[in-house]
Amino acid sequence: MSEIAEEMRRRPDRGEVATYIPELARADRQAFGLAVIDADGNLAAAGDSETPFSVQSITKVFTLTLALGKIGDRLWQRVGREPSGNPFNSIVQLELEKGVPRNPFINAGAIAVTDAILSGHEPREALGEILRFLQFLAEDSTITIDERVAASEKRTGFRNVALANFMKSYGVLDNPVDYTLGVYFHHCAVAMSCRQLAMAGRFLAHSGRNPSTGLLVISPERARRINAIMLTCGHYDGSGDFAYRVGLPGKSGVGGGILAIAPGTASIAVWSPGLDAAGNSHLGRLALERLTKRMGWSIF
Ligand code: DON
Repeated sequence: MSEIAEEMRRRPDRGEVATYIPELARADRQAFGLAVIDADGNLAAAGDSETPFSVQSITKVFTLTLALGKIGDRLWQRVGREPSGNPFNSIVQLELEKGVPRNPFINAGAIAVTDAILSGHEPREALGEILRFLQFLAEDSTITIDERVAASEKRTGFRNVALANFMKSYGVLDNPVDYTLGVYFHHCAVAMSCRQLAMAGRFLAHSGRNPSTGLLVISPERARRINAIMLTCGHYDGSGDFAYRVGLPGKSGVGGGILAIAPGTASIAVWSPGLDAAGNSHLGRLALERLTKRMGWSIF
């Protein structure tokens, strides 16, 4: 692990930090963190594994889990389960498919999922529920929302406003657009470290069970299905390449984080803020490729 972190620290090819959310442009391109937690709770970490970063789209895994818990398979009436083959913020497919987003991980899909969690409640209640769920999973009550990132995204999230209004016009969203977007912008702005993120992902690595308490968070079947969607859609139009190189279900965020799941074995989080052309962490993916090769962790 430290060897991988050392290599990543030294590499000159670091990708480009996201700038469309101005607050994210402040991230340190030199940062690199990695954390792996196995079934017995053993933590292996390297680099900046304790530094909180903006998890961005990675919370979409957890909001999907919450929404399925709330409305079950009815969720699939408002969002699909197919890879999009398009960038995460694309609008073209949405018109062809009558306002129903391709999957829960592209922005439109995650906005529709957020709307399902909101279901008539006040935005602050829905947000509290998401945050408490993350704190519960990670067993860490210090996890918070970075208000500066949320405000920055709210100020500049014109595309997300367009996507949400478009879905609203097709009747896919139930709540007022600004309520749904308010919750969406804030849950994307949750800040977590690699260790906290790997902790939160454990239930997906262990058939829906928190391995430290033995309690079921979700059913084994649901965990299997969420992992399947992470594998096919978790890296947008880079999902095929991620599966090819890393061979594990994974979810990226434009903050440069990736949560990857080695089913039955480990929950893994990596962070390096520089992104590739598809908006996924460049060195994060490379580090996971090194790690899974060395450990023999591909699901294939
Ligand atoms: O809505 C957005 O654009 C961001 N809050 C999240 C996008 C994101 O993380 C895409 N990931 N690679």
